[in-house]
Amino acid sequence: MARVRKAVLPVAGLGTRVLPATKSIPKEMLPVFDRPAIQYVVDEAKAAGIEHFVFVTGRNKGAIEDYFDRAYELESTLSSKNKTGVLEELESTLPEPGSMSFVRQQAPKGLGHAIWCARDVIGDEPFAILLPDVIVKAEPSCLAQMISVYDKVGGNVIAVEEVPEARVSSYGVIDPMERDGAMVRMKGMVEKPSRETAPSNLAITGRYVLQPEIFGLLAEQGAGAGGEIQLTDAMARMMETQDFHAVVYDGKSYDCGSKIGYLEATVAHALADAENGAAARALLKAMLG
Ligand code: G1P
Repeated sequence: MARVRKAVLPVAGLGTRVLPATKSIPKEMLPVFDRPAIQYVVDEAKAAGIEHFVFVTGRNKGAIEDYFDRAYELESTLSSKNKTGVLEELESTLPEPGSMSFVRQQAPKGLGHAIWCARDVIGDEPFAILLPDVIVKAEPSCLAQMISVYDKVGGNVIAVEEVPEARVSSYGVIDPMERDGAMVRMKGMVEKPSRETAPSNLAITGRYVLQPEIFGLLAEQGAGAGGEIQLTDAMARMMETQDFHAVVYDGKSYDCGSKIGYLEATVAHALADAENGAAARALLKAMLG
C-alpha cells in the first residue's frame, strides 16, 4: 500500500470570524499560547510521518512562508547575545529544505477548490489534508491515529468526532453503518446539514487521508453548501467507487477559526505547558475569583 508522504494545508481563508485580528496577518499565524496555530498542525502531521507540506495560500498570506524560513538577522542578533535557548527553539521550527510547497488559490471558491489547487504537487499518490483552523490535542497525533487505520484498511480515511446535535449544521456529517472500536463504516456524508436532516452527530474534524482520484472529482464538482465547491460533496461521490472509513479519534479538537474556540485552545495549551502550566492555572483561578 502506498505510504502517505504529503499533506495539503489549505490556508487561503480570510479569517472573517476572528476579525479584526486577521485584517493584516493570516489567522494561521495567531499565537495559540506560545506558537502560531499553524505550527501545531505541522507538528501533528510530522508526528504522523508526513515529509512534504503543500500550503494552499492566497493574498496576504506571505507571513506563513516567511515563518518557515530562516530569519538571519534575528538569528545573528540572538547568537551575538548568546541566547542559545531561543535559538534552538527557532531552529526546531525549520522544515527540511525543499519540504514545503506553496500554491495559490486565486479566488475563494471553497475548500474543495482549494484542495484541487494542490493536484500537481501531490501527483498520483495518497495524501493527507489538515485544516489548520482545527488544532487537535491527541497522543498519538490525530493524523497518526488515522494513518494506522489507513495502514490496515487502505482506501480513504477521515477523522470524526461527536458534536452536540445543535451544532451539526457547522460541519460535514457522516452517515454511519457499523462501528468497530474507533473505526466506523459509513454509507454517506453531507456538508452542513440542518439539525433535522443530519444523518448522525458524527462530524468531520478536518483531517483526511484521500486517494488522488479525488482531484478528478473536484475538477468537475459544482457549488454546494454556501455556494462553495465542497470537499465533502466530492468525497460523497467518490464513495460510489472507493472505500471510506471514519475514525473516531482519541483526543480533543479546538476550533481556532472562532474567537471562543481560539481562547479555549490558548488556555488548554497554557495549562498543559511544562514551564508555565502551574502559573497559568493560578492566574486563571485568581481571575475567576
Ligand atoms: C470544513 C469542512 C467540514 C468540516 C469542517 C471541520 O468546514 O467543509 O466538512 O466538518 O471544516 O472544521 P468549514 O469549517 O471550513 O466551514
